[in-house]
Amino acid sequence: MKAMTYSRYGSPDVVTLSEASKPTPKPNEVLIRILATTVTSGDYRARSLDMPAGFGLIGRLVFGLTGPRQPILGTELAGIVESVGAEVMNFNPGDEVMAFTGGAYGSHAEYRTMPATGTIVHKPANLSFEEAASLSFGSMTALPFLRDKARIKAGDTVLVVGASGAVGTAAVQIARHFGADVTGVTSTANVELVAGLGARRVIDYTRTDFATTGETWDIILDTTATVPFARCAHALKPGGRLVAIQGSFAQALGIGKPSKASGKKVIAGYVPATAEDLRYIARLASDGELKPVVDRTYRLEEAVAAHAYVDTGRKRGSVVLTVGAGEADFLSGRQARVGRTRPLSAAA
Ligand SMILES: NC(=O)c1ccc[n+]([C@@H]2O[C@H](COP(=O)([O-])OP(=O)(O)OC[C@H]3O[C@@H](n4cnc5c(N)ncnc54)[C@H](OP(=O)(O)O)[C@@H]3O)[C@@H](O)[C@H]2O)c1
Repeated sequence: MKAMTYSRYGSPDVVTLSEASKPTPKPNEVLIRILATTVTSGDYRARSLDMPAGFGLIGRLVFGLTGPRQPILGTELAGIVESVGAEVMNFNPGDEVMAFTGGAYGSHAEYRTMPATGTIVHKPANLSFEEAASLSFGSMTALPFLRDKARIKAGDTVLVVGASGAVGTAAVQIARHFGADVTGVTSTANVELVAGLGARRVIDYTRTDFATTGETWDIILDTTATVPFARCAHALKPGGRLVAIQGSFAQALGIGKPSKASGKKVIAGYVPATAEDLRYIARLASDGELKPVVDRTYRLEEAVAAHAYVDTGRKRGSVVLTVGAGEADFLSGRQARVGRTRPLSAAA
């Protein structure tokens, strides 16, 4: 099968088009023919080994000491089940699915196997394959951080810094889903996009520094590593939580955390990816509460250009790679489905 692979860490051109062996599903696995996948900030980290402060050595331990252990990047995908192992009862050949491969990567290829009880779900019927492929990376981060770690509740005020990225666009919508009053922080070009996701207010950081407005929030979720606790302590309400998505190693260890007396918290680190959360996210998308934001679409073979765009740090939502002839190929010969909603386009 065709796959984009890399054998050393570095700039986008370490990724090349290769022939890899097509995987065979084990008895408890499904084999997916991939139609769409994405290039994420996670792929950027694994490819470049440019890690958040203090995580350099951990990055090498995770991804491979002298070179990448997993040669195929890609944390999320959508496609069609080609075959299933003998023990699989919940998927059938021909099923349309989306899956989150997360830290195991392996989605930048024509095929991928997944355990049938893992992070794979039937694709919401109202999403295209490109949309479904771009749903999980940001949501599988924002959902557990907001719900489980920050314990978001209805009526909370939430500030999302970096509201136009993959995690930020998901965080704005998921916070809204939990009944929060959301403010997004982004640059001028993305103000309209973030407002369209449901932020009641959008702060353009090129004009206004949220930290000088005198306002306070219950939760500040920062995807950009520009908001250390010292910068935002006064902008957190009593009991407020700073969620540092791109947290440093020191933050993950709790070094420099606020005193108990302050009643404020810094939340950083890792969140587990569960099948239950992916089902929850798919349900939100089916209900129209969570809309994928697709920025640019490339072909799998154009992955180097896609990586270069992601490396700019300016992408809006997700950058999609279509695989093979992508969705057009799948849909040809099939009656076009009705009732599909369009994604919130990242194009202004
Ligand atoms: N802890 C975890 O488990 C976990 C999981 C996933 C991701 N992450 C980390 O989270 C970070 C964000 O991931 P992502 O996928 O959302 O990244 P992304 O999609 O690449 O983020 C790009 C967006 O960031 C915005 N941005 C950049 N600087 C900004 C600033 N100073 N203020 C406001 N917005 C700014 C850009 O908007 P403008 O062009 O408008 O500035 C752009 O739309 C990454 O560092 C990633 O490694 C952590």
